Amino acid sequence: MDHTGYPELDGLLPRLAAIPALDRDALEAERIAVLGRKQGALTAALRAVATLDPAQRKGFGAASNALKAAFEAAFLAREAELAAERLEALGPSVDLTMPGRARWVGALHPITRVVDEILAIFRELGFAVAVGPEAETEWFNFGALNFPPDHPAMDMHDTLYLSQGPGERILLRTHTSPVQVRVMQAGPPPYRVVIPGMCYRNDTADASHTPAFLQIEGLAVDEGIGFVDLKATLTHFARRFFGSATKVRFRPSYFPFTEPSAELDVECQICHGKGCPACKHTGWMELLGCGMVHPAVLTNCGVDAERFTGWAFGLGPGRTAMQRYDVPDLRLMSGADMRFLRQLSGQEGG
Ligand code: DAH
Repeated sequence: MDHTGYPELDGLLPRLAAIPALDRDALEAERIAVLGRKQGALTAALRAVATLDPAQRKGFGAASNALKAAFEAAFLAREAELAAERLEALGPSVDLTMPGRARWVGALHPITRVVDEILAIFRELGFAVAVGPEAETEWFNFGALNFPPDHPAMDMHDTLYLSQGPGERILLRTHTSPVQVRVMQAGPPPYRVVIPGMCYRNDTADASHTPAFLQIEGLAVDEGIGFVDLKATLTHFARRFFGSATKVRFRPSYFPFTEPSAELDVECQICHGKGCPACKHTGWMELLGCGMVHPAVLTNCGVDAERFTGWAFGLGPGRTAMQRYDVPDLRLMSGADMRFLRQLSGQEGG
């Protein structure tokens, strides 16, 4: 715009031309000086329109409005230009030198890893994996396993019953041993199986108990199987899992479904036999219960106890994981504290 035809408006044209050279503060001051409601130079001209006589009003009004629009456009354009310059001065908006944010990848729970490792060791020895239901009848959980009818393990104290009505009661299995019965009923021997699964007891959680916990059961039944097979297999297993020099010992024990029964201890993994609070200063840690399958159990499952013999074991992977990872309290691993679990799975950051 070089002239408007009105001297009072043309006087503003040099200021319009000067806008592209203004800096941020000067631009704001100039906007107020020209378009400000109270004292803006152009605002005053527009206001004067009303005082003109009608003949002049039209032309002057149109010219002032056009000039106002030209100023507004110039202010906006300069403002955008200054904003772009400021952005540029800040540098590229993506900082390619910034270290990347580590992507969080999941990992197997330490107890799951222990289960997988144990199953793999038995797989090498020719054991298949079997599973069974977590809701069982009293017969599978207790009766078939040769528990006497009034055995304290059936007490309401450690068993969670799902039904109390007439007929057979249904409960949450208290161990994985009922799956032994299901495996034997499903077909004739030989059997070599390991059975992982959740078990439930009406226990209060403490350092070595949780009301829901994992077990791994083992069962080997064939002709001519003896206690030496049990000892050799379970000793091999303990040394594969904890290290070839690990000391083990078998202690006599009692379970209704095995005869004779034993407990397998391994040298305490924390103090290596010297004695520490974790092993109650004995130098040993209980790893599993085991024994020769009681002939009454074989008979209950339809297996000829004159011809076949076998052994079984039951192990708690949670406690095994405590020994493997040197964790003093089972509840630390049963919880979902990611800061803790990440340390055990060797994950950092995230
Ligand atoms: N079922 C037993 C328990 O939960 C563990 C066990 C002991 C299983 C000896 C067995 C065994 O198969 O032979 O306490």
